[in-house]
Amino acid sequence: MSQSKVVIIGTGFVGMSYAYALLNQGTVEEIVLIDIDQRKAEGEAMDLNHGLAFAPRKMSIKSGTYEDCKDAGLVVITAGVNQKDGETRIDLLNRNAKIMQSVVGEVMKSGFDGIILVATNPVDILTYVVWKASGLPSSRVIGSGTSLDTARLRYEISQYIHIDVRNIHAYILGEHGDSEFVCWSNANVGGKPFKDVIESMPNHIKFSDLDAIYKDVKNAAYDIISRKRATYYGIGMALVRITSAIFNNENRILPISVYNDGVYDIEKDLYIGLPAVLNKNGVDHVVRLNLDSEETTNLKKSANILKTNINSMNF
Ligand code: 2OP
Repeated sequence: MSQSKVVIIGTGFVGMSYAYALLNQGTVEEIVLIDIDQRKAEGEAMDLNHGLAFAPRKMSIKSGTYEDCKDAGLVVITAGVNQKDGETRIDLLNRNAKIMQSVVGEVMKSGFDGIILVATNPVDILTYVVWKASGLPSSRVIGSGTSLDTARLRYEISQYIHIDVRNIHAYILGEHGDSEFVCWSNANVGGKPFKDVIESMPNHIKFSDLDAIYKDVKNAAYDIISRKRATYYGIGMALVRITSAIFNNENRILPISVYNDGVYDIEKDLYIGLPAVLNKNGVDHVVRLNLDSEETTNLKKSANILKTNINSMNF
């Protein structure tokens, strides 16, 4: 990989929120935008370039072609259709799987040998599709997974207990979708087990609130889509966090969609949202958490749903 160069495929709301957040945070040296509508990508690059005078660092931003993937460290795929009001993420599978296959074919033809990050939904299944189509090692193909859901969870909890969101440590795991679940057993606030936090803050939060918190997180995308038709700022920033972990070689633990290589006792040969250590080589390893029995059952259920959908496709 040369410098910190990112190629973004798809300049819709998600791709452009990501690009805008990269620009604002000065995360990388080079951004290339690719879209099926080339003029749209050109216009987006022009618009972003006009913000460079106000950015925290010098960057190169342009629209390009798949040839630009050749020396990119990271290709981020955001192309595809998104949910309409009332649709689930899995409803998009067949339409977006076709798009993934053609996109990955073009990326690999360029001689690309970096990391691919998938954001298109249903993200876990499509990350598997991209991995298969790319021929890259599974450590170098990841999906945004439950990174956004986890951020939503931390935000919800922070609203109840009036503690900064960055001090709330709790994961959503499993499918980025309807079978996701909260890993309450490992949650803590600044090192204090969440159970103890609840007991010590009866005026702020009760055990009976946990189900409402989970439902708000799980339904967040539906609730936003019914109001503004799409979600994009949150995922854009989650993608930047993942990008920083890669280019800064952080060994950062993030809940992303990773290949299950047997660290958890669930269906094998699938991608699912689990905490993983990320650095410049991609996934270093998946973190094995001690889940309680309900969480273990939930993870298995989520894996079974993903596996059934993978099996329904023709590989
Ligand atoms: C989200 O969770 C729709 O997957 C997207 O916001």
